Amino acid sequence: MTKKHQVIISTSPAAGILWDVRCSFQSLIALLLVALVGGAVYLTAQSGHLLADDRTSSSTSNSTPPPPPSASTNDLPPSKCNLFSGKWVYDNHSYPLYKEKQCTFMSDQLACEKFGRKDLTYQNWRWQPHHCDLPRFNATALLERLRNKRLVFVGDSLNRGQWVSMVCLVETSMPSSSPKSMISNGSLTTFKATDYNASIEFYWAPLLVESNSDNPVNHRLPDRIVRAHAIEKHARHWTDAHILVFNSYLWWKQPKMNTLWGSFGNSDGIYKDVEMLRSYEMALKTWADWLEIHINRTKTQLFFISMSPTHQRAEEWGESAGENCYSETEMIGKDEYQGNGSNPEMMRKVEASINDLKSRGLTVRLINITQLSEYRKEGHPSIYRKQWELLTQRQISKPSAYADCIHWCLPGVPDVWNQLLYAYIFNSSSHNTF
Ligand SMILES: *[C@@H]1O[C@H](CO)[C@@H](O)[C@H](O)[C@H]1NC(C)=O
Ligand SMILES: *[C@@H]1O[C@H](CO)[C@@H](O)[C@H](O)[C@H]1NC(C)=O
Ligand SMILES: *[C@@H]1O[C@H](CO)[C@@H](O)[C@H](O)[C@H]1NC(C)=O
Ligand SMILES: *[C@@H]1O[C@H](CO)[C@@H](O)[C@H](O)[C@H]1NC(C)=O
Ligand SMILES: *[C@@H]1O[C@H](CO)[C@@H](O)[C@H](O)[C@H]1NC(C)=O
Ligand SMILES: *[C@@H]1O[C@H](CO)[C@@H](O)[C@H](O)[C@H]1NC(C)=O
Ligand SMILES: *[C@@H]1O[C@H](CO)[C@@H](O)[C@H](O)[C@H]1NC(C)=O
Ligand SMILES: *[C@@H]1O[C@H](CO)[C@@H](O)[C@H](O)[C@H]1NC(C)=O
Repeated sequence: MTKKHQVIISTSPAAGILWDVRCSFQSLIALLLVALVGGAVYLTAQSGHLLADDRTSSSTSNSTPPPPPSASTNDLPPSKCNLFSGKWVYDNHSYPLYKEKQCTFMSDQLACEKFGRKDLTYQNWRWQPHHCDLPRFNATALLERLRNKRLVFVGDSLNRGQWVSMVCLVETSMPSSSPKSMISNGSLTTFKATDYNASIEFYWAPLLVESNSDNPVNHRLPDRIVRAHAIEKHARHWTDAHILVFNSYLWWKQPKMNTLWGSFGNSDGIYKDVEMLRSYEMALKTWADWLEIHINRTKTQLFFISMSPTHQRAEEWGESAGENCYSETEMIGKDEYQGNGSNPEMMRKVEASINDLKSRGLTVRLINITQLSEYRKEGHPSIYRKQWELLTQRQISKPSAYADCIHWCLPGVPDVWNQLLYAYIFNSSSHNTF
Protein backbone atom coordinates (compact mmCIF):
# COMPACT_ATOMS: atom_id res chain seq x y z
CA MET A 1 0.00 0.00 0.00
CA THR A 2 1.44 3.32 -0.98
CA LYS A 3 1.62 5.88 1.70
CA LYS A 4 -0.07 9.03 0.54
CA HIS A 5 1.10 12.50 1.25
CA GLN A 6 1.29 13.56 4.83
CA VAL A 7 -0.19 16.90 5.71
CA ILE A 8 0.97 18.69 8.77
CA ILE A 9 -0.77 21.80 9.86
CA SER A 10 -0.16 23.84 12.90
CA THR A 11 -2.77 26.39 13.67
CA SER A 12 -0.48 28.62 15.63
CA PRO A 13 2.99 28.87 16.93
CA ALA A 14 2.01 31.03 19.80
CA ALA A 15 -0.40 29.59 22.31
CA GLY A 16 1.15 30.01 25.67
CA ILE A 17 1.64 28.82 29.19
CA LEU A 18 3.82 29.99 31.96
CA TRP A 19 6.69 27.73 31.86
CA ASP A 20 9.83 29.70 31.70
CA VAL A 21 12.17 29.17 34.58
CA ARG A 22 13.13 32.80 34.49
CA CYS A 23 9.56 33.73 35.26
CA SER A 24 8.82 35.58 32.12
CA PHE A 25 5.58 34.54 30.61
CA GLN A 26 6.62 32.79 27.52
CA SER A 27 4.55 30.99 25.04
CA LEU A 28 5.17 27.60 23.73
CA ILE A 29 2.08 25.76 22.81
CA ALA A 30 0.48 25.51 19.49
CA LEU A 31 -3.15 24.80 19.62
CA LEU A 32 -3.00 21.66 17.65
CA LEU A 33 -0.84 19.87 15.29
CA VAL A 34 -2.69 17.74 12.91
CA ALA A 35 -0.94 15.16 10.87
CA LEU A 36 -3.15 13.29 8.52
CA VAL A 37 -2.24 10.41 6.33
CA GLY A 38 -4.35 10.35 3.23
CA GLY A 39 -6.92 12.69 4.61
CA ALA A 40 -8.42 15.88 3.37
CA VAL A 41 -7.66 19.03 5.22
CA TYR A 42 -9.47 22.30 4.95
CA LEU A 43 -8.27 25.43 6.53
CA THR A 44 -10.63 28.34 6.37
CA ALA A 45 -8.30 31.17 6.98
CA GLN A 46 -10.78 33.94 7.57
CA SER A 47 -12.27 32.22 10.56
CA GLY A 48 -9.15 30.44 11.66
CA HIS A 49 -11.09 27.21 11.71
CA LEU A 50 -9.27 24.05 11.12
CA LEU A 51 -11.31 21.30 9.78
CA ALA A 52 -9.75 18.00 9.11
CA ASP A 53 -11.62 15.00 7.94
CA ASP A 54 -10.02 11.66 7.69
CA ARG A 55 -12.16 9.09 6.02
CA THR A 56 -9.63 7.03 4.23
CA SER A 57 -7.70 4.22 5.71
CA SER A 58 -4.39 4.99 7.20
CA SER A 59 -1.43 2.81 6.46
CA THR A 60 -0.60 2.24 10.08
CA SER A 61 -1.64 -1.15 11.28
CA ASN A 62 -3.53 -1.19 14.51
CA SER A 63 -2.01 -3.67 16.82
CA THR A 64 -4.38 -4.74 19.54
CA PRO A 65 -3.15 -3.77 22.97
CA PRO A 66 -1.54 -6.54 24.98
CA PRO A 67 -3.46 -8.19 27.81
CA PRO A 68 -3.72 -6.37 31.13
CA PRO A 69 -1.14 -6.96 33.81
CA SER A 70 -1.82 -9.90 36.04
CA ALA A 71 -3.76 -8.80 39.06
CA SER A 72 -1.40 -9.09 41.93
CA THR A 73 -3.06 -6.77 44.38
CA ASN A 74 -6.60 -7.00 43.20
CA ASP A 75 -8.22 -6.83 46.61
CA LEU A 76 -10.84 -4.18 46.12
CA PRO A 77 -13.06 -3.13 43.27
CA PRO A 78 -11.90 0.17 41.78
CA SER A 79 -14.90 1.92 43.27
CA LYS A 80 -13.76 1.10 46.81
CA CYS A 81 -10.05 1.67 46.58
CA ASN A 82 -7.89 4.79 46.57
CA LEU A 83 -6.64 4.77 43.02
CA PHE A 84 -4.36 7.75 43.64
CA SER A 85 -2.17 6.05 46.17
CA GLY A 86 0.23 3.58 44.66
CA LYS A 87 3.49 3.17 42.82
CA TRP A 88 4.88 3.14 39.30
CA VAL A 89 5.76 -0.28 37.95
CA TYR A 90 7.94 -0.78 34.89
CA ASP A 91 5.81 -2.61 32.33
CA ASN A 92 7.05 -2.56 28.79
CA HIS A 93 4.59 -5.26 27.78
CA SER A 94 1.40 -3.31 28.30
CA TYR A 95 2.82 0.20 27.97
CA PRO A 96 2.75 2.45 26.06
CA LEU A 97 -0.97 2.06 25.43
CA TYR A 98 -0.45 3.44 21.91
CA LYS A 99 2.48 4.40 19.74
CA GLU A 100 3.32 8.04 19.29
CA LYS A 101 3.38 7.71 15.51
CA GLN A 102 0.08 5.87 15.45
CA CYS A 103 -1.82 8.81 16.86
CA THR A 104 -3.14 10.96 14.03
CA PHE A 105 -3.72 13.97 16.23
CA MET A 106 -0.57 13.93 18.29
CA SER A 107 0.68 17.39 19.22
CA ASP A 108 4.21 18.39 18.30
CA GLN A 109 4.53 19.90 21.77
CA LEU A 110 4.27 16.46 23.30
CA ALA A 111 5.75 14.14 20.68
CA CYS A 112 9.08 13.69 22.43
CA GLU A 113 10.23 10.67 20.46
CA LYS A 114 9.61 12.42 17.17
CA PHE A 115 11.69 15.35 18.35
CA GLY A 116 14.71 13.30 19.16
CA ARG A 117 14.32 11.84 22.61
CA LYS A 118 16.30 8.63 22.76
CA ASP A 119 15.56 7.27 26.22
CA LEU A 120 12.01 6.01 25.90
CA THR A 121 11.36 4.24 29.17
CA TYR A 122 9.13 7.16 30.21
CA GLN A 123 6.53 5.44 28.01
CA ASN A 124 6.68 2.17 29.90
CA TRP A 125 5.38 2.89 33.36
CA ARG A 126 2.11 1.57 34.69
CA TRP A 127 0.44 3.10 37.74
CA GLN A 128 -0.25 0.44 40.33
CA PRO A 129 -2.64 1.50 43.09
CA HIS A 130 -1.76 -0.16 46.39
CA HIS A 131 -4.98 -2.07 46.92
CA CYS A 132 -6.45 -2.73 43.51
CA ASP A 133 -5.71 -2.53 39.81
CA LEU A 134 -6.68 0.24 37.47
CA PRO A 135 -9.37 -0.95 35.13
CA ARG A 136 -8.07 -1.59 31.67
CA PHE A 137 -8.78 1.25 29.26
CA ASN A 138 -11.28 0.00 26.69
CA ALA A 139 -11.70 2.56 23.92
CA THR A 140 -14.70 0.79 22.47
CA ALA A 141 -16.48 0.83 25.80
CA LEU A 142 -15.75 4.54 26.12
CA LEU A 143 -17.04 5.25 22.62
CA GLU A 144 -20.21 3.31 23.44
CA ARG A 145 -20.53 5.38 26.57
CA LEU A 146 -20.06 8.56 24.52
CA ARG A 147 -22.49 7.67 21.76
CA ASN A 148 -24.37 10.88 20.84
CA LYS A 149 -22.54 12.62 23.67
CA ARG A 150 -19.84 15.15 24.41
CA LEU A 151 -16.88 14.71 26.69
CA VAL A 152 -15.33 18.16 27.16
CA PHE A 153 -12.04 19.05 28.79
CA VAL A 154 -12.06 22.67 29.99
CA GLY A 155 -8.90 24.40 31.14
CA ASP A 156 -5.28 25.14 30.29
CA SER A 157 -2.55 23.46 28.26
CA LEU A 158 -2.10 20.70 30.83
CA ASN A 159 -5.72 19.80 30.35
CA ARG A 160 -5.19 20.07 26.62
CA GLY A 161 -2.37 17.54 26.93
CA GLN A 162 -4.73 15.19 28.73
CA TRP A 163 -7.27 15.72 25.98
CA VAL A 164 -4.68 14.88 23.30
CA SER A 165 -3.86 11.75 25.28
CA MET A 166 -7.55 10.82 25.43
CA VAL A 167 -7.96 11.36 21.70
CA CYS A 168 -4.89 9.19 21.07
CA LEU A 169 -6.10 6.45 23.40
CA VAL A 170 -9.42 6.32 21.60
CA GLU A 171 -8.35 7.00 18.07
CA THR A 172 -5.52 4.47 17.93
CA SER A 173 -7.98 1.74 18.90
CA MET A 174 -10.53 2.61 16.27
CA PRO A 175 -10.49 0.63 13.04
CA SER A 176 -8.60 2.69 10.49
CA SER A 177 -11.66 2.69 8.24
CA SER A 178 -13.74 4.34 10.94
CA PRO A 179 -14.35 7.99 10.05
CA LYS A 180 -13.21 10.70 12.40
CA SER A 181 -12.65 14.41 12.31
CA MET A 182 -10.95 17.21 14.17
CA ILE A 183 -12.45 20.66 14.00
CA SER A 184 -11.20 23.76 15.73
CA ASN A 185 -13.57 26.66 16.25
CA GLY A 186 -12.32 29.48 18.41
CA SER A 187 -11.62 28.17 21.90
CA LEU A 188 -13.24 24.82 21.19
CA THR A 189 -11.54 21.95 19.41
CA THR A 190 -13.60 18.86 18.71
CA PHE A 191 -12.54 15.34 17.92
CA LYS A 192 -15.41 13.30 16.63
CA ALA A 193 -15.78 9.58 16.08
CA THR A 194 -18.41 9.83 13.39
CA ASP A 195 -19.88 6.32 13.62
CA TYR A 196 -20.64 6.89 17.28
CA ASN A 197 -21.45 10.59 16.95
CA ALA A 198 -19.15 10.82 19.96
CA SER A 199 -17.19 14.01 20.67
CA ILE A 200 -14.07 14.45 22.74
CA GLU A 201 -13.44 18.17 23.01
CA PHE A 202 -11.11 20.70 24.49
CA TYR A 203 -12.13 24.20 25.49
CA TRP A 204 -9.42 26.74 26.22
CA ALA A 205 -10.11 28.61 29.48
CA PRO A 206 -6.87 28.65 31.44
CA LEU A 207 -8.38 30.43 34.44
CA LEU A 208 -11.83 28.82 34.04
CA VAL A 209 -13.44 32.24 34.44
CA GLU A 210 -12.97 35.01 31.91
CA SER A 211 -9.57 36.58 31.58
CA ASN A 212 -7.45 38.47 29.10
CA SER A 213 -5.73 35.15 28.30
CA ASP A 214 -8.79 33.57 26.74
CA ASN A 215 -7.66 33.82 23.16
CA PRO A 216 -6.71 30.25 22.27
CA VAL A 217 -3.81 31.54 20.19
CA ASN A 218 -2.71 34.95 21.37
CA HIS A 219 -2.68 34.87 25.13
CA ARG A 220 0.87 35.83 25.70
CA LEU A 221 0.25 38.96 27.68
CA PRO A 222 2.50 40.59 30.24
CA ASP A 223 -0.23 41.47 32.72
CA ARG A 224 -2.84 38.91 33.43
CA ILE A 225 -6.30 40.18 34.26
CA VAL A 226 -9.03 37.91 35.53
CA ARG A 227 -12.75 38.60 35.58
CA ALA A 228 -13.32 36.38 38.56
CA HIS A 229 -17.09 36.84 38.56
CA ALA A 230 -17.75 35.99 34.94
CA ILE A 231 -17.81 32.57 33.34
CA GLU A 232 -20.85 32.64 31.08
CA LYS A 233 -18.90 33.48 27.93
CA HIS A 234 -17.07 30.17 28.32
CA ALA A 235 -19.68 28.06 30.00
CA ARG A 236 -22.34 28.40 27.36
CA HIS A 237 -20.11 26.33 25.09
CA TRP A 238 -20.02 23.33 27.38
CA THR A 239 -22.90 23.45 29.86
CA ASP A 240 -24.80 20.77 27.93
CA ALA A 241 -21.89 18.33 27.77
CA HIS A 242 -22.33 14.87 29.28
CA ILE A 243 -18.92 14.65 30.88
CA LEU A 244 -16.93 17.72 31.93
CA VAL A 245 -13.30 17.61 33.00
CA PHE A 246 -11.94 20.84 34.46
CA ASN A 247 -8.55 22.02 35.57
CA SER A 248 -7.03 25.38 36.46
CA TYR A 249 -3.88 25.88 38.40
CA LEU A 250 -0.66 27.01 36.77
CA TRP A 251 -1.98 30.23 35.33
CA TRP A 252 -2.77 31.39 38.84
CA LYS A 253 0.70 30.97 40.17
CA GLN A 254 1.67 34.54 40.89
CA PRO A 255 1.40 36.42 44.20
CA LYS A 256 -1.40 38.75 43.14
CA MET A 257 -4.02 38.69 40.45
CA ASN A 258 -5.27 41.80 38.76
CA THR A 259 -8.99 41.19 39.22
CA LEU A 260 -11.63 43.02 37.26
CA TRP A 261 -15.13 43.90 38.39
CA GLY A 262 -16.97 44.97 35.27
CA SER A 263 -16.29 44.14 31.66
CA PHE A 264 -13.20 44.23 29.51
CA GLY A 265 -13.18 47.37 27.42
CA ASN A 266 -15.74 49.04 29.63
CA SER A 267 -14.39 52.24 31.08
CA ASP A 268 -16.20 51.92 34.40
CA GLY A 269 -14.62 48.57 35.27
CA ILE A 270 -12.87 48.35 38.62
CA TYR A 271 -9.43 46.75 38.67
CA LYS A 272 -7.84 45.61 41.88
CA ASP A 273 -4.77 43.58 42.74
CA VAL A 274 -6.09 40.74 44.83
CA GLU A 275 -4.04 38.19 46.69
CA MET A 276 -3.95 35.18 44.36
CA LEU A 277 -5.52 32.63 46.68
CA ARG A 278 -8.42 34.97 47.31
CA SER A 279 -8.91 35.59 43.60
CA TYR A 280 -8.71 31.84 42.91
CA GLU A 281 -11.37 31.28 45.54
CA MET A 282 -13.64 33.86 43.91
CA ALA A 283 -13.18 32.23 40.52
CA LEU A 284 -13.95 28.79 41.92
CA LYS A 285 -17.07 30.18 43.53
CA THR A 286 -18.18 31.63 40.20
CA TRP A 287 -17.51 28.27 38.58
CA ALA A 288 -19.36 26.34 41.29
CA ASP A 289 -22.35 28.69 41.27
CA TRP A 290 -22.62 28.31 37.52
CA LEU A 291 -22.55 24.54 37.75
CA GLU A 292 -25.09 24.46 40.54
CA ILE A 293 -27.61 26.44 38.53
CA HIS A 294 -26.95 25.17 35.03
CA ILE A 295 -25.86 21.55 35.17
CA ASN A 296 -28.43 18.87 34.62
CA ARG A 297 -27.58 16.41 37.38
CA THR A 298 -29.06 13.39 35.73
CA LYS A 299 -27.17 14.07 32.56
CA THR A 300 -23.71 15.37 33.34
CA GLN A 301 -20.75 13.85 35.18
CA LEU A 302 -18.25 16.37 36.56
CA PHE A 303 -14.53 16.01 37.22
CA PHE A 304 -11.73 18.28 38.38
CA ILE A 305 -8.10 17.38 37.71
CA SER A 306 -5.79 18.36 40.57
CA MET A 307 -2.61 20.34 40.00
CA SER A 308 0.00 18.99 37.64
CA PRO A 309 3.43 19.26 39.25
CA THR A 310 6.38 20.87 37.51
CA HIS A 311 10.06 19.94 37.68
CA GLN A 312 11.85 23.20 37.12
CA ARG A 313 14.24 23.20 40.06
CA ALA A 314 16.57 20.23 40.30
CA GLU A 315 17.68 21.22 43.79
CA GLU A 316 14.25 20.19 45.01
CA TRP A 317 15.19 16.57 44.33
CA GLY A 318 18.75 16.95 45.45
CA GLU A 319 20.58 17.88 42.28
CA SER A 320 22.46 21.00 41.21
CA ALA A 321 20.84 24.37 41.59
CA GLY A 322 20.14 25.99 38.24
CA GLU A 323 19.23 22.69 36.60
CA ASN A 324 15.77 21.31 35.91
CA CYS A 325 14.14 18.27 34.29
CA TYR A 326 16.53 18.46 31.34
CA SER A 327 18.46 15.20 30.88
CA GLU A 328 16.48 13.37 33.56
CA THR A 329 15.81 9.77 32.58
CA GLU A 330 14.60 8.34 35.86
CA MET A 331 11.75 9.19 38.15
CA ILE A 332 12.05 10.32 41.76
CA GLY A 333 12.17 7.34 44.09
CA LYS A 334 11.39 9.09 47.35
CA ASP A 335 8.02 7.97 48.67
CA GLU A 336 5.47 10.80 48.91
CA TYR A 337 7.89 13.22 47.27
CA GLN A 338 6.44 16.68 46.82
CA GLY A 339 8.11 19.46 44.89
CA ASN A 340 8.17 23.07 45.89
CA GLY A 341 6.30 24.01 42.76
CA SER A 342 3.08 22.52 44.06
CA ASN A 343 0.71 24.63 46.05
CA PRO A 344 -1.46 22.48 48.32
CA GLU A 345 -3.31 25.54 49.57
CA MET A 346 -4.82 26.00 46.15
CA MET A 347 -5.99 22.41 46.12
CA ARG A 348 -7.60 22.96 49.52
CA LYS A 349 -9.63 25.71 47.87
CA VAL A 350 -10.68 23.31 45.13
CA GLU A 351 -11.67 20.70 47.69
CA ALA A 352 -13.64 23.29 49.64
CA SER A 353 -15.51 24.29 46.50
CA ILE A 354 -16.26 20.69 45.65
CA ASN A 355 -17.45 19.95 49.19
CA ASP A 356 -19.64 22.99 49.14
CA LEU A 357 -21.14 21.88 45.83
CA LYS A 358 -21.73 18.44 47.28
CA SER A 359 -23.73 19.98 50.11
CA ARG A 360 -25.77 21.67 47.41
CA GLY A 361 -26.43 18.33 45.76
CA LEU A 362 -23.92 18.40 42.92
CA THR A 363 -21.03 15.97 42.77
CA VAL A 364 -17.68 16.86 41.25
CA ARG A 365 -15.14 14.07 41.40
CA LEU A 366 -11.58 15.21 42.10
CA ILE A 367 -9.04 13.22 40.10
CA ASN A 368 -5.93 13.50 42.21
CA ILE A 369 -3.06 13.21 39.76
CA THR A 370 -0.67 15.33 41.79
CA GLN A 371 1.21 12.78 43.87
CA LEU A 372 1.63 10.19 41.14
CA SER A 373 2.91 12.84 38.74
CA GLU A 374 5.31 14.35 41.30
CA TYR A 375 7.60 11.34 40.91
CA ARG A 376 7.84 11.70 37.14
CA LYS A 377 10.59 14.26 36.68
CA GLU A 378 11.66 12.37 33.55
CA GLY A 379 8.22 12.56 31.95
CA HIS A 380 8.39 16.11 30.56
CA PRO A 381 9.20 17.09 26.98
CA SER A 382 12.30 18.96 28.11
CA ILE A 383 13.96 20.00 24.84
CA TYR A 384 12.32 17.24 22.80
CA ARG A 385 9.43 19.07 21.21
CA LYS A 386 8.85 21.50 18.40
CA GLN A 387 10.56 24.82 19.00
CA TRP A 388 8.41 27.62 17.69
CA GLU A 389 11.03 30.24 17.92
CA LEU A 390 14.60 30.13 16.73
CA LEU A 391 16.85 29.18 19.59
CA THR A 392 19.42 31.70 20.65
CA GLN A 393 23.10 30.83 20.91
CA ARG A 394 22.82 31.03 24.65
CA GLN A 395 19.97 28.55 24.71
CA ILE A 396 21.75 26.13 22.44
CA SER A 397 24.74 26.20 24.74
CA LYS A 398 22.54 25.62 27.80
CA PRO A 399 19.64 23.35 26.85
CA SER A 400 18.07 23.41 30.31
CA ALA A 401 17.34 27.09 29.66
CA TYR A 402 14.66 26.17 27.17
CA ALA A 403 13.53 22.81 28.53
CA ASP A 404 9.79 22.40 29.06
CA CYS A 405 9.42 20.87 32.52
CA ILE A 406 5.70 21.58 32.77
CA HIS A 407 3.94 19.60 30.09
CA TRP A 408 4.18 15.84 29.61
CA CYS A 409 5.42 13.64 26.79
CA LEU A 410 2.90 11.38 25.08
CA PRO A 411 2.55 8.49 25.37
CA GLY A 412 3.21 9.05 29.04
CA VAL A 413 1.90 10.35 32.33
CA PRO A 414 -1.41 11.87 31.08
CA ASP A 415 -2.42 8.48 29.69
CA VAL A 416 -2.57 7.32 33.28
CA TRP A 417 -4.61 10.38 34.26
CA ASN A 418 -7.07 9.26 31.62
CA GLN A 419 -7.11 5.73 32.95
CA LEU A 420 -8.09 7.20 36.29
CA LEU A 421 -10.74 9.34 34.66
CA TYR A 422 -11.97 6.30 32.78
CA ALA A 423 -12.28 4.33 36.00
CA TYR A 424 -14.47 7.06 37.49
CA ILE A 425 -16.54 7.64 34.37
CA PHE A 426 -17.63 4.01 34.64
CA ASN A 427 -17.44 3.43 38.33
CA SER A 428 -17.93 6.69 40.09
CA SER A 429 -19.78 6.50 43.38
CA SER A 430 -21.51 9.61 42.12
CA HIS A 431 -22.73 7.50 39.28
CA ASN A 432 -25.66 9.05 37.56
CA THR A 433 -27.98 7.06 35.39
CA PHE A 434 -27.59 7.72 31.73
C1 LIG B 1 -16.53 -1.28 37.68
O1 LIG B 1 -16.44 -1.92 38.94
C2 LIG B 1 -16.85 -3.27 38.91
C3 LIG B 1 -16.81 -3.81 40.31
O2 LIG B 1 -16.78 -2.78 41.23
C4 LIG B 1 -15.94 -4.06 37.99
O3 LIG B 1 -16.38 -5.40 37.92
C5 LIG B 1 -15.96 -3.46 36.61
O4 LIG B 1 -15.02 -4.12 35.79
C6 LIG B 1 -15.62 -1.99 36.67
N1 LIG B 1 -15.77 -1.45 35.35
C7 LIG B 1 -14.89 -0.63 34.83
C8 LIG B 1 -15.16 -0.16 33.46
O5 LIG B 1 -13.93 -0.27 35.45
C1 LIG C 1 11.31 -5.01 28.26
O1 LIG C 1 12.34 -4.70 29.14
C2 LIG C 1 13.18 -5.79 29.41
C3 LIG C 1 14.14 -5.37 30.51
O2 LIG C 1 14.59 -4.08 30.29
C4 LIG C 1 13.90 -6.19 28.13
O3 LIG C 1 14.75 -7.28 28.36
C5 LIG C 1 12.86 -6.56 27.08
O4 LIG C 1 13.47 -6.81 25.84
C6 LIG C 1 11.85 -5.45 26.92
N1 LIG C 1 10.76 -5.91 26.11
C7 LIG C 1 10.21 -5.17 25.17
C8 LIG C 1 9.02 -5.75 24.48
O5 LIG C 1 10.62 -4.06 24.89
C1 LIG D 1 -14.30 -3.54 25.33
O1 LIG D 1 -15.62 -3.07 25.41
C2 LIG D 1 -16.46 -3.61 24.40
C3 LIG D 1 -17.79 -2.88 24.47
O2 LIG D 1 -18.25 -2.82 25.77
C4 LIG D 1 -16.58 -5.12 24.63
O3 LIG D 1 -17.40 -5.68 23.65
C5 LIG D 1 -15.19 -5.73 24.56
O4 LIG D 1 -15.26 -7.09 24.88
C6 LIG D 1 -14.25 -5.03 25.52
N1 LIG D 1 -12.91 -5.52 25.26
C7 LIG D 1 -12.15 -6.02 26.23
C8 LIG D 1 -10.82 -6.49 25.81
O5 LIG D 1 -12.53 -6.08 27.38
C1 LIG E 1 -24.97 13.76 18.03
O1 LIG E 1 -24.41 14.16 19.26
C2 LIG E 1 -24.83 15.42 19.70
C3 LIG E 1 -24.08 15.72 20.99
O2 LIG E 1 -22.72 15.84 20.73
C4 LIG E 1 -26.32 15.45 19.91
O3 LIG E 1 -26.73 16.73 20.30
C5 LIG E 1 -27.01 15.03 18.64
O4 LIG E 1 -28.39 14.93 18.86
C6 LIG E 1 -26.47 13.71 18.17
N1 LIG E 1 -27.06 13.39 16.88
C7 LIG E 1 -27.86 12.35 16.72
C8 LIG E 1 -28.32 12.09 15.32
O5 LIG E 1 -28.21 11.64 17.65
C1 LIG F 1 -18.23 28.06 15.67
O1 LIG F 1 -18.85 28.34 16.90
C2 LIG F 1 -19.89 29.29 16.82
C3 LIG F 1 -20.43 29.51 18.20
O2 LIG F 1 -19.43 29.89 19.04
C4 LIG F 1 -20.98 28.80 15.91
O3 LIG F 1 -21.98 29.80 15.80
C5 LIG F 1 -20.41 28.47 14.55
O4 LIG F 1 -21.42 27.89 13.76
C6 LIG F 1 -19.26 27.50 14.70
N1 LIG F 1 -18.65 27.28 13.40
C7 LIG F 1 -18.42 26.06 12.93
C8 LIG F 1 -17.75 25.99 11.61
O5 LIG F 1 -18.72 25.06 13.56
C1 LIG G 1 -31.81 16.34 32.19
O1 LIG G 1 -31.25 15.28 31.45
C2 LIG G 1 -32.10 14.15 31.33
C3 LIG G 1 -31.30 13.04 30.69
O2 LIG G 1 -30.66 13.50 29.51
C4 LIG G 1 -33.34 14.55 30.55
O3 LIG G 1 -34.20 13.43 30.44
C5 LIG G 1 -34.03 15.69 31.25
O4 LIG G 1 -35.11 16.14 30.47
C6 LIG G 1 -33.07 16.83 31.50
N1 LIG G 1 -33.71 17.82 32.35
C7 LIG G 1 -33.78 19.09 32.02
C8 LIG G 1 -34.43 19.98 33.01
O5 LIG G 1 -33.30 19.51 30.97
C1 LIG H 1 11.22 25.61 48.75
O1 LIG H 1 10.64 26.89 48.78
C2 LIG H 1 10.92 27.61 49.97
C3 LIG H 1 10.17 28.90 49.94
O2 LIG H 1 9.87 29.29 48.65
C4 LIG H 1 12.43 27.84 50.10
O3 LIG H 1 12.69 28.52 51.28
C5 LIG H 1 13.12 26.51 50.09
O4 LIG H 1 14.51 26.71 50.11
C6 LIG H 1 12.75 25.72 48.86
N1 LIG H 1 13.33 24.41 48.93
C7 LIG H 1 14.03 23.90 47.93
C8 LIG H 1 14.61 22.56 48.15
O5 LIG H 1 14.16 24.47 46.87
C1 LIG I 1 -3.92 14.04 46.65
O1 LIG I 1 -3.31 12.91 47.20
C2 LIG I 1 -2.24 13.21 48.07
C3 LIG I 1 -1.59 11.93 48.54
O2 LIG I 1 -1.89 10.84 47.74
C4 LIG I 1 -2.76 14.00 49.25
O3 LIG I 1 -1.67 14.36 50.07
C5 LIG I 1 -3.44 15.25 48.76
O4 LIG I 1 -4.04 15.90 49.83
C6 LIG I 1 -4.49 14.92 47.74
N1 LIG I 1 -4.95 16.15 47.18
C7 LIG I 1 -6.21 16.43 47.02
C8 LIG I 1 -6.54 17.74 46.43
O5 LIG I 1 -7.07 15.63 47.35
